[in-house]
Amino acid sequence: MQIEPSKGINHLRDLYAQFNAIHIDQLERRWIAISLMVIGLFVGIITIDALFHGINPPGKVETIDSASLHLSKEFAEDNLGVQVDEKGAIIIRMVAGRYSFFPKHIDVPAETPLTFRWVSMDVLHGVHIPMTNMSTMIVPGYVAEITTTFPKPGEYPLLCNEYCGLGHNHMWSNISVIAKEDWKAPVKSPAKGEQQ
Ligand code: CUA
Repeated sequence: MQIEPSKGINHLRDLYAQFNAIHIDQLERRWIAISLMVIGLFVGIITIDALFHGINPPGKVETIDSASLHLSKEFAEDNLGVQVDEKGAIIIRMVAGRYSFFPKHIDVPAETPLTFRWVSMDVLHGVHIPMTNMSTMIVPGYVAEITTTFPKPGEYPLLCNEYCGLGHNHMWSNISVIAKEDWKAPVKSPAKGEQQ
């Protein structure tokens, strides 16, 4: 059924008049207004987080065989850690497994975009850096990727934040964030057969 515009507006007006005719207690009106404001506030926080703080669900799905990571080109043991690709982008590859992240320690520069790529070799893990907005699940079979920048140098712990077994609370690694000018790209020959 098609509603003519003028009829549509009239219809809305009628509804509004009907709504106004209902007796709503003053106090109740106030609470309705407060509830609407709280909803508005939450929607606002989500919008600000998404647009200004870059908090968002992962945008792409990349799968990997968790059982044969050591045979994969990308996550083979000598390919883990910090690498600079031919375009100059810094890529950090880490494997999560009960109960550690491999490698155990990495050095990265401050004020530089870093792309982290994580995979799990066994069960579900999480990775979280306290006091930053970096946190993601590492689901077996999938590659978790996050690009982030550390604004200032310091020591940052990298913690597992998904319960993964008895050793869960000992599962950590750390990142030394070094002043940009003091950081040197690791000299490492790319693993055999590695092509990016
Ligand atoms: Cu890994 Cu908890």
